[in-house]
Amino acid sequence: MARIAYVNGRYLPLARACVNIEDRGYQFGDGIYEVFYAYRGRLIDEALHFARLERSRGEIGLPAPMSEASLRAVIRALMRRNRVETGLVYLQLTRGVARREHCFPDPAPYPALSLTVRAKPEPPADLSGWHAGAVTLADERWGRCDIKSINLLPNVLAREAARRAGALEAILFDERGMVTEGASSSVWVVGADQVLRTRALDRHVLPGCTRAALLEDVAAGGTMFREEAVSLEGLRAAREIFITSATSFVKPITSLDGVPVGNGAPGLVASQLYARYLARLRGG
Ligand code: PDD
Repeated sequence: MARIAYVNGRYLPLARACVNIEDRGYQFGDGIYEVFYAYRGRLIDEALHFARLERSRGEIGLPAPMSEASLRAVIRALMRRNRVETGLVYLQLTRGVARREHCFPDPAPYPALSLTVRAKPEPPADLSGWHAGAVTLADERWGRCDIKSINLLPNVLAREAARRAGALEAILFDERGMVTEGASSSVWVVGADQVLRTRALDRHVLPGCTRAALLEDVAAGGTMFREEAVSLEGLRAAREIFITSATSFVKPITSLDGVPVGNGAPGLVASQLYARYLARLRGG
């Protein structure tokens, strides 16, 4: 069955779904995006993703293309048309089409909204086949990583460098040698002191929705936890590292720059949090 995309009010086969060459997303990366994971017809962490979309939109001064209720209806319709119940929903909103000029066009064009969905298997029942390697890289992304902007070239380069090194993810660090996040994930570290840490939210990291949801599981589970940045040395001495996102769920990083993390297998904290993640999916 041909995949169907939503582009500016129309449902089209993917092959015919096009955007204008003067779209500011295409020319400047002047736009924002969201990725949702849908599980058995339900958008996971839905309210968090919509809240972040609203925030990103406000931060770059984009008008809303439609109400949130209409957007939810479009997503539901697109999933139905693609017969996808469990998968990824990609939403992109750009400043629209205008003659190329750097500053915001005046009058503002209608923002361009496009959506695609793609089936993705349900999370596996355990972590035995759900872990991966990572490499460390200097964080060369722009200074407002808290906006879910489509300016992703540095993230793309980092993921490609990881792939070439035989790893899945690149774990990025700032100029002070403190871990920020993954190229497309939030990073969590269990230190030699058994404390679980993830960086506090600032301009250097995207406020992950999976991160926000997991924080509640962490609080409920009694794991020792601190919201603070980890140094590269701390990362290298970690007992456990794992990443979270709408696409990686909770994913242990079992090798870092080619060296095993801990005993090289998914750790206890990640396993417990993954079990809670799965329970949350299944329990609704
Ligand atoms: N990315 N940090 C970055 C830089 C990300 O790109 C993502 C997710 C996250 C985790 O956010 P969330 O838990 O809300 O998915 C953190 C999506 C999945 C992507 O670009 O495909």
